[in-house]
Amino acid sequence: MLTKIVEEALNEQIEVECQSSYSYLAMASWCEVKGMEGAARFFYKQSDEERLHMLRLFKYINDSGGHALTPAPDKVQLHFKDIMEVVDCFLEGEVKVSQGINKLVYIATQEKDYTTLNFLQWYVEEQHEEETLARSIQDKIKLIGLEANGLYLIDKEMGSLSGTANAETI
Ligand code: FEO
Repeated sequence: MLTKIVEEALNEQIEVECQSSYSYLAMASWCEVKGMEGAARFFYKQSDEERLHMLRLFKYINDSGGHALTPAPDKVQLHFKDIMEVVDCFLEGEVKVSQGINKLVYIATQEKDYTTLNFLQWYVEEQHEEETLARSIQDKIKLIGLEANGLYLIDKEMGSLSGTANAETI
């Protein structure tokens, strides 16, 4: 059984995951319009994953006697200067999600809610992977550069990333 404090904190995290899902959808669309099909595939997949992260929280809250509240996302950034800005925003988004998870871990610890702490371990690991992924893409873009064939290579690289990971299930 969740305490009110933990339930509210989990619902706040639902909002964060939902917001990420919408942000990445906007990034996917921007990339697609710019002809970067590989990068678009990557962000469509990221957007889907964030939705699954949100649904995992829904299930957990409702299965634990709480009520998962459907969020209304805020407006997201629709236009970007270039792919570097997109990836910078992606990393920023992931750092924000990690901060939310860390806050949740802190609250669950304070509340001595060991079941929720256990549930959150998956998110802690996931966030570490996601941040690492975002940083590695950022590094690659810096290395390749946006000039000459740079965009083509970056797009190809990001496209290959979207095809490798296994599909997640909740
Ligand atoms: Fe749901 Fe990218 O974290």
